[in-house]
Amino acid sequence: MDAKDVGGDLEKILITAEQIDARLTELAAEIDEYYQGEEILLVGVLNGAVMAMADLSRKIHTSTRMDWMAVSSYGSGTKSSGVVRILKDLASDIHDVNVLIVEDIIDSGLTLSWLLANLRSREPKSLRIATVLRKPDAAKVEVEVDHVGFDIANEFVVGYGLDYAGRYRSLPFVGTLAPHVYGA
Ligand code: IMP
Ligand code: MG
Repeated sequence: MDAKDVGGDLEKILITAEQIDARLTELAAEIDEYYQGEEILLVGVLNGAVMAMADLSRKIHTSTRMDWMAVSSYGSGTKSSGVVRILKDLASDIHDVNVLIVEDIIDSGLTLSWLLANLRSREPKSLRIATVLRKPDAAKVEVEVDHVGFDIANEFVVGYGLDYAGRYRSLPFVGTLAPHVYGA
């Protein structure tokens, strides 16, 4: 799927597929540098992180394994509340394991801080975070993000795993939607 397939739904492209690819290459180099050959368990947060997981993992030279979590954050509309429910838990035990959470976007940071506390209680060897996108609101929550692809403005974006009402995840770039899509 590309821009031409969603016609007038798109307002603008914020980050092109080429920019994402180049930045993920840099993040992978940072990650290799940090772990110094120690195996990493990449933990993707479904569904948004599927693209990031597929692309980032293939750029990392260090030995990695993959696992997935699905969480649902109770909230009103597009705002998350920080009250999180596990829809799918990890398949593996992370005790004494180097865990790297792979995220599509950190917005309020509430989901992530809950996830961090939850995973930390399982006593991994290390626990770090890589995200493709981060919004300024994330700064309000005390979450230190180790690898950030792009800091973006506070607007709703779709593509590269991110959806609006379940759609647009498979766009290869990150963009904003035209107001009519939201029923405006
Ligand atoms: P947080 O708890 O506010 O950080 O919520 C993070 C989650 O909300 C992300 O994993 C996304 O699923 C969703 N989200 C936040 N901002 C956007 C956006 O701009 N587009 C699509 N989904 C978003
Ligand atoms: Mg997510």
